[in-house]
Amino acid sequence: MTEIDDADVSDLILRHAAVKGALLPLLHDIQHRLGYIPQAAVARIAEGLNLSIADVHGVVTFYADFTLERPARRRIQLCMAEACQARGVADTCAKLEAASGLKIGETRADLSLSLEPIYCLGLCATGPAALVDGAPQARLNGQRLDALIGEVVR
Ligand code: FES
Repeated sequence: MTEIDDADVSDLILRHAAVKGALLPLLHDIQHRLGYIPQAAVARIAEGLNLSIADVHGVVTFYADFTLERPARRRIQLCMAEACQARGVADTCAKLEAASGLKIGETRADLSLSLEPIYCLGLCATGPAALVDGAPQARLNGQRLDALIGEVVR
């Protein structure tokens, strides 16, 4: 956890500490602010909210909205669900993997890019679909895929 992250976490704990049922709102605020829940923050959150470390860790690891890992600066979350499979996501995935040097589910060591699986974005009729830095993208094949690779992957 960086000093900036540490200060942000302390500030957010103070804002939420007096509120009943503060754990989920606090975790959402930290996740939104930092992009992850720093492992080092779990004990401080527990202390600040008078909870056990196990309680906080259990909530952080239960919900998919929270992650304990610092995210990459650029993220491609590629839909690997059935409709996108039927619309050719395997080819899209193979091209992204080849261009990025990553396998699906991996992050570059320098945190410049991650290629992550995700399951159904509600864009099934326009797949292959993905979230690119949180923004939905559809029809990721042909020129759209080439543009994505040129902009984000290289
Ligand atoms: S299956 Fe990919 S968006 Fe629904």
